[in-house]
Amino acid sequence: MEPPRTLEDAPRTPPDDGSAWVRPALASDVPAIREVAVAAWRATYAGRVTPEAIERFLAAAYSEERIGVRIERHEVLVAGNGAGAAYVQAFAEAAAHGDHVQLVAIYTLPGARGRGLGTALVEAVGDAHPDEDLAADVLLDNDLAEPFYAARGFVPGQELTDEIAGELVRERRWWRRARLEDRETAAAGE
Ligand SMILES: CC(C)(COP(=O)(O)OP(=O)(O)OC[C@H]1O[C@@H](n2cnc3c(N)ncnc32)[C@H](O)[C@@H]1OP(=O)(O)O)[C@@H](O)C(=O)NCCC(=O)NCCS
Repeated sequence: MEPPRTLEDAPRTPPDDGSAWVRPALASDVPAIREVAVAAWRATYAGRVTPEAIERFLAAAYSEERIGVRIERHEVLVAGNGAGAAYVQAFAEAAAHGDHVQLVAIYTLPGARGRGLGTALVEAVGDAHPDEDLAADVLLDNDLAEPFYAARGFVPGQELTDEIAGELVRERRWWRRARLEDRETAAAGE
């Protein structure tokens, strides 16, 4: 299934052919988003910061209340595979950051990776903002995320220091510039 062209076009009901679906998050998705965030954070940040910092961060930034606020204030999309497993297995959160759109979070449950959910989420965010640059801050040497972004047209940018519940981590901002070439090609064909 093609990703939705705009967030409004996103299907409200999952396809029944097992393909990836993406839709805007609802308040009722909060527990599922929390489950994905907790599993992904514990796996991704293990060895980068202490287990205590991971749990402090999750308690503060991914409480059910905070996830509700994220859904209200930002663009939060959820994704899964097929009608038979219509539960949320991945989510992404995007927010306007001055001159670009920041992919604040993108996580897939460890057991559901490699099935196209991350790709469908990135493309849905990109399609909703065709004229804006997309950026994502990725842990240095994050073996899953760096090749993922590189294969989806992102290029590495500046290094940053971020703070996770009082502990410092090094990250790199990855950029996908607005699809000016796509638009120029479309205009040339008109
Ligand atoms: C990065 C991430 C969101 C990608 O999500 P995903 O749903 O696995 O994404 P996709 O299935 O669309 O693509 C995953 C890529 O890994 C490959 N892959 C295959 N099996 C895989 C598996 N079991 N686990 C991980 N990746 C797998 C896919 O083939 C694909 O590679 P490609 O670029 O050659 O197509 C996911 O790995 C994740 O949650 N990582 C941990 C959190 C994280 O680092 N988030 C980003 C922080 S900025």
